[in-house]
Amino acid sequence: MFGTLKEKAAGLGDRRIEDLFADAGRAEAFSLTALGMLFDYSKTQVDAGIRDALLALADTAQVAARRDAMFAGQKINETEGRAVLHTALRNLEGRPVLVDGVDVMPEVLATLGRMEALADAVRESDVTDVVNIGIGGSDLGPAMGVLALAPYHDGPRCHFVSNVDGADIADTLKRCDPAHTVFIVASKTFTTIETMTNAATAKAWLQEKGVSAEGKFIALSSNVEKAGAFGIPEERVLGFEDWVGGRYSMWGPIGLSLMIAIGPDNFRAFLRGAEAMDRHFVDAPLAENMPVLLALVGIWHNQGLGHATRAVLPYDNRLARFPAYLQQMEMESNGKGVAMDGTDLPYDSGPVVWGEPGTNGQHAFYQLIHQGTRVIPCEFMVAASGHEPALRHHHDLLIANCLAQSEALMRGRDLDEARGKVAGKFEGAELERQAKHRVFPGNRPSTTLVYPKLDPETLGKLIALYEHRVFVEGVILDINSYDQWGVELGKELATALGPMVTGEAPVAGKDGSTAQLIGFVQENR
Ligand code: F6P
Repeated sequence: MFGTLKEKAAGLGDRRIEDLFADAGRAEAFSLTALGMLFDYSKTQVDAGIRDALLALADTAQVAARRDAMFAGQKINETEGRAVLHTALRNLEGRPVLVDGVDVMPEVLATLGRMEALADAVRESDVTDVVNIGIGGSDLGPAMGVLALAPYHDGPRCHFVSNVDGADIADTLKRCDPAHTVFIVASKTFTTIETMTNAATAKAWLQEKGVSAEGKFIALSSNVEKAGAFGIPEERVLGFEDWVGGRYSMWGPIGLSLMIAIGPDNFRAFLRGAEAMDRHFVDAPLAENMPVLLALVGIWHNQGLGHATRAVLPYDNRLARFPAYLQQMEMESNGKGVAMDGTDLPYDSGPVVWGEPGTNGQHAFYQLIHQGTRVIPCEFMVAASGHEPALRHHHDLLIANCLAQSEALMRGRDLDEARGKVAGKFEGAELERQAKHRVFPGNRPSTTLVYPKLDPETLGKLIALYEHRVFVEGVILDINSYDQWGVELGKELATALGPMVTGEAPVAGKDGSTAQLIGFVQENR
């Protein structure tokens, strides 16, 4: 499958990325501008031949046909027998989307209208604090979005409680006034143990404070019955269908906390941005298609060159949660060891995705990126403008740092330059030894995405760009990006371990390590 890529990788020899810029047209030829954003992948080893090979892979994998099948509502999530239609949630014009012959758009738009009415009601009320209780896709999206769009935040304060660690909800409730707080229980299944435990604790807190729970809870869930059993009436439940995966769900009801924070108009702008990226993904030829190129560069690094991780490095402090959001989107989607047909994958699954905002990361883990022995392809992101015109000099420095990092990764510093740095301070063998420590190998690949400003529309574009990138990589890897069976086993074992931890059940059938750990916990609490 990836033989050609591996041959091309082996054939690179000692070619350096910076030497590719002898071609004065390289930057333009290996960049793409779309929807007002510039994606520059010229600081990688991708050349015309490699790009052709990558595009040929996309053709062989039938990326275009699979994409069209997804948008058309076909059940491409084959292990769960579901369509994959988060794109319908931002289809604001309501173009028909059929699932099993039924147009889902009237329901989608009606739900959007209900979200807007609920959001307005909360925004116009005396509610000061909204607590979203959810985890994974029912937390990361809105939490990331609320931080990203802080300049547009004119609604009540929004808090996010996800962890079953009681510290999370305890610390949050300390900041809330029970009479003026609304809880959003966000859970597609309404069975997730962390969320159910936190929701019950929130209810008990209200009771303890003498405040009625009536009108204090909203549920975002596909499971109206379970929400009802918890005590949330149907008119306060916003539902969504099984064709919206948890990690792709912030465009619909799961985005309610974001809508409450920034208001329905800004939320619609967010949806419009995503929809624009959807149109681009559907309409642009593969060679000029931003999600496709982002995916192909990813495949080149992961499969061609064998780099096991990639760092996503937003030079945008408000995107601090974006790498964590992408971690779920990418790793829960493409971290699979079995191909569509049930056979073992004969190559590696999708990469480890990690990152932190710049410039903070520069003073933490960039050391390894520059001089460690493993190559980590970096994906830089930066806005041309910030939201603080009075602090323009900050933003200029931010951009300069972002560009400096990609340049440093590519150029490196050779031994001669390093000698120059220490000449005069050391001599002879000591000079050689000291210089060696100051060598940067360089030739390390990075891409840079520049967008005008992190406004709602742009955030929508960015997320949709990565969603489609994950889709394309999944198709090329021939895996199902839309199930997540890998999270099941731990959940089952935790359920069985619960009573053993409390001492209600004997520690039976457990390995020595697990039994010892339970014993130590019990003796030390
Ligand atoms: O355990 C993984 C997972 O199923 C994610 O895919 C999902 O986003 C998260 O749990 C939360 O699920 P729910 O929204 O059903 O509570």
